[in-house]
Amino acid sequence: MPAEIMTREQYLRQSLDDRLPYYEKDGRIYDVMLSQQFSREFMENLFDVADRLKQISREPEGMDYISSLLRHKRAMLYFTQPSTRTFLSFLSACQIVGMRTGEVRDPTLSSEMKGESQEDALRTFSSYFDLIIMRDAKPGFCEYMAYLFKFSGRDVPIFNGGSGKDQHPTQALLDMYTLHRSFQDRGGISGKVYGFVGDLLRGRAVRSVAYLLSRYSDIQMIFAAPSEFQISPELESYLLDKGVTVHKTDSLEEALPQVDSLYMTRVQDEYDVSGESSRVDYTRYHLTRENVSRMKPDAVILHPLPRRYELDPALDTDPRAMYWRQLRNGMYIRAALILYVFGKEHLLDEYRGS
Ligand code: CP
Repeated sequence: MPAEIMTREQYLRQSLDDRLPYYEKDGRIYDVMLSQQFSREFMENLFDVADRLKQISREPEGMDYISSLLRHKRAMLYFTQPSTRTFLSFLSACQIVGMRTGEVRDPTLSSEMKGESQEDALRTFSSYFDLIIMRDAKPGFCEYMAYLFKFSGRDVPIFNGGSGKDQHPTQALLDMYTLHRSFQDRGGISGKVYGFVGDLLRGRAVRSVAYLLSRYSDIQMIFAAPSEFQISPELESYLLDKGVTVHKTDSLEEALPQVDSLYMTRVQDEYDVSGESSRVDYTRYHLTRENVSRMKPDAVILHPLPRRYELDPALDTDPRAMYWRQLRNGMYIRAALILYVFGKEHLLDEYRGS
């Protein structure tokens, strides 16, 4: 390895400002790694692209047109942590824009079982594919791979589909897109109260979407969680620096009447070290047919899913429940992101219909 290439530890010790330029090319986002990459202007342009995709794809001719845009490209989906929505919505997004795909979801069926490093596995994928979409439990691992690719001779873009407890930037984009659509006739995302409920310390989606909401003005956030799983001091201080009004509580009941949006989360017990989750009474953070009546009639209910018991399925027919729309929005926002990274999003404007 040439002397100038940093080890993973050295690379991740760098500040965010030092790392972010590695994920850009020609002034545009190239690798999708962290929510901090997305400006408000970037998000709003992407929302327009996703809206246009939705609209055009209603007609079979429109679907044919969209699927011609990246017919010459291939994507690799490398998911070493379980996933349903992120995997399938990225797969569907690739199909919408015409990309062919390959996948490894079980590394025991790949040459990693013969001792191959993940670095070599990813470099192999980059030889065959034009985009790598990955989920891996190790925070910072896909960031480091995006950095290493800069020296590999074949620098294909990498999308972070969830990096351990760290970040889930495309989940945050689809959450923001859902909020944008929910509030577009009600003054937009700014000036509203956003509640977050549950395991807020270890939930990567909450952290990623909170960063993005802080791009808007006059934002209040209420974090309702058991003290063991409250947001980190780092996130709180980031939000305060951005002018967000932050209120932390251990009471869901206190939050319910105040919020315009309620973001529910499940307990993230896959990250337990010594049974911490079992020592918390999570039933206090369940949204039910009874306590949902305390919410505003026009509030929205989000959940990144999967859910367990914190969100009663009886609420699925409540007009405030947006979580099934949220996951479908994920397919469109991810397709929009793929078009953007390959510089093809402007071609949607050339579609004239049948
Ligand atoms: N929201 C989300 O990331 O779901 P999956 O774990 O099913 O991908």
